[in-house]
Amino acid sequence: MATMIDDAKRLAIASKLSDLKVVQDVLIANEQKFISLFSGDSEIRDRFQDMLEDDRKNMGILDTVIVQYGVQAKPKESVKKMAQMAQQASDSSELSLYDKVAQHELLKHQQVMSGILIHKAAQVVGADIEAAITPLNAVNFENRAHQEQLKGVMEVIGVRELTGKEAQQGLWARVQDAMAALTGVAGSVVSRTDDEMNIQDIIRMDHNKVNMLFMQIEGTEDPQKIQEYFGQIYRDLNAHSIAEEQVVYPAVRPFYGEHDTQELYDEQSEMKVLMDSIKAMSPASPDYKNQVRRLKDIVMDHVRQEESTMFAAIRNNCSSDQQEQLATQFKTAKSNFQKQMADSMK
Ligand SMILES: [Fe+2]
Ligand SMILES: [Fe+2]
Repeated sequence: MATMIDDAKRLAIASKLSDLKVVQDVLIANEQKFISLFSGDSEIRDRFQDMLEDDRKNMGILDTVIVQYGVQAKPKESVKKMAQMAQQASDSSELSLYDKVAQHELLKHQQVMSGILIHKAAQVVGADIEAAITPLNAVNFENRAHQEQLKGVMEVIGVRELTGKEAQQGLWARVQDAMAALTGVAGSVVSRTDDEMNIQDIIRMDHNKVNMLFMQIEGTEDPQKIQEYFGQIYRDLNAHSIAEEQVVYPAVRPFYGEHDTQELYDEQSEMKVLMDSIKAMSPASPDYKNQVRRLKDIVMDHVRQEESTMFAAIRNNCSSDQQEQLATQFKTAKSNFQKQMADSMK
């Protein structure tokens, strides 16, 4: 078996995450078509309408996960081709409605498996990755539930196409039962978290992830691992700091106060200087871990201030809508920075 260096593993998972987005785009496009194809059947049309809303929301979650993951990569060409073919199939005049929904169900199935695969890969590569991709749980759960609904839809239209008659009563109740049972059987890979994430949630996720990376460095003596983990800390902390400085600090300054806000900027400058000096060191050097520990202390002090007084100030001064808007802006700022970094490495 080929052994990959760990950055290559991280890149491979990043590419798989991009694949998810490509397929998600097709799912959304198909569901829009189904809504008009089933305009005369409100039962089925409403199901596609709900599915479409879930899938649009899940596209946002995929964006969050990719930014949180901290490494961006392009989707595979083969996945893009497969997506194109799936879209052509849903436009084809030769396929029956049943065939089209069957294709859609297959695509959902692939999406579920890719989501689960990413979880399994994360368990092998690093705890920080598991932490970053947690929101993928909600996407997996819903895709799994959608699969059950699509099977129900297939039964209804399949019976209609074959016999011209309606399927037996009670089918939709069975679909509901199957969906309810999912939460029980699917376990931790598929669980549901609903609420929109606000800025505090997003920042806290980043903080937890970086803390986990520090612990991973602490727990190994392998210079290659240490370099991999520090590389991720370097990328994550830079993206996180820049997004805070572009979006969060200017927004909180008026109510959090000039002095406290300035302190946060100053601490981040200190972090950047230290990070760059560690980056220039050899991970095998005897002082390396001491320097990483120093960085950890500075970061964790800073994190405590943000999560206590800054979060309280945000809660007291921003509406829930504003807190969610800040989260979106923060994600965009991080994502732009990550794309720049990915481009500069080419
Ligand atoms: Fe910060
Ligand atoms: Fe922070």
